[in-house]
Amino acid sequence: MAFLADVLSRVKPSATIVMTQKARDLKNKGRDVISLSVGEPDFDTPDHIKDAAMAAIRRGETKYPPVSGIVPLREAIAKKFKRENGLDYKPSQVIVGTGGKQVLYNAFLATLNPGDEVIVAAPYWVSYPEMVGLCGGTAVVIETTIEDNFKLQPEALEKAITPKTKWVLLNSPSNPSGAAYTRDELKALTDVLVRHPHVWVMPDDMYEHLVYGDFEFTTPAQVEPSLYERTLTVNGVSKAYAMTGWRIGYAGGPEHLIKAMDFVQGQQTSGACTIAQWAAVQALDGPQDHLPRFKKAFEERRDLVVSMLNQSKYLKCPMPEGAFYVYPSCADAIGRKAPSGKTIETDEDFVSELLETEGVATVHGSAFGLGPNLRISYATSNAVLEEACNRIQRFCGALR
Ligand SMILES: Cc1ncc(COP(=O)(O)O)c(C=O)c1O
Repeated sequence: MAFLADVLSRVKPSATIVMTQKARDLKNKGRDVISLSVGEPDFDTPDHIKDAAMAAIRRGETKYPPVSGIVPLREAIAKKFKRENGLDYKPSQVIVGTGGKQVLYNAFLATLNPGDEVIVAAPYWVSYPEMVGLCGGTAVVIETTIEDNFKLQPEALEKAITPKTKWVLLNSPSNPSGAAYTRDELKALTDVLVRHPHVWVMPDDMYEHLVYGDFEFTTPAQVEPSLYERTLTVNGVSKAYAMTGWRIGYAGGPEHLIKAMDFVQGQQTSGACTIAQWAAVQALDGPQDHLPRFKKAFEERRDLVVSMLNQSKYLKCPMPEGAFYVYPSCADAIGRKAPSGKTIETDEDFVSELLETEGVATVHGSAFGLGPNLRISYATSNAVLEEACNRIQRFCGALR
């Protein structure tokens, strides 16, 4: 009898974590390494949020919280949904989890039966197919194209829907491509879903606030109110409030689904950290003036990186609307020889050779289900990004 569960053989390790560790190992050996593989803002959590956590500790808010979250946080989330998305969710329709990751995972645990299908557009966040698989479902991957700016097309969605489709996951702005759907693009997708009443939609709006220029963020239940009864709107404080380590995510949806997720969470982690929840109340209800600062910095960095990558031989980089990632194609580098003498056959070869030769850590696109590409996170300073892009240009220039 095998000691480890069979399910482990169906789960892949996270490529982003593997690359971050590879870069760390090289750094520890004394190499000068720039890591562009991390998925978190380089900013610190704003002080008023930290103060709220410290005040909560001093007030003795250190006990077990209710499974689905403390009432003030569920109220703050309900207000946020109304204020920012025009969505009416009562606090009883809201659940708080240990990061957006747990919320997504518990939604799948609470709803998937063997054979149930979840539609995911590639390139996708690495965890989606693995979570679906761990919960007994089947991820149905639709590949997008660089010509469509990595956005799911309504015809492709229509074709992928079967009687077994339970969920469609929509992540806008996207990790890893940064692509975000305009209201019209989203409406074209929700029009398809309206025609298939057995399909539920799970928008992952984690990067909602990180959109640039005059781009207007929208979410499916806002664009198509008739989908409200079969939508679970997932969000969190990790990215917009630079709170990745606090581990607070949340979702709003129909009460029967929220109850089922509460039931799962009650036998799992119970409520998320009480202190972090009080900090999240302040994040959502408190001043938002750090956001323009974050957005301005990210927008400048996006423009710098896209411009420098497009000046690089063999790379083609679309301009994404949001998040802090770009997803250039390295198709024209395939088949060429790296300075080490090795022929680049895949995007994984490209990122390995780039790391070995120039000490720049990125993540290969095939880990996100679509390549040959690489994901570059620009959540670091302009000076570091400029140096990294110079190195990428030098690396590409040396390919033969
Ligand atoms: C698209 C997407 N969804 C969800 C998450 C999970 O966020 P959290 O850190 O709140 O668990 C991430 C984190 O990288 C993400 O990129």
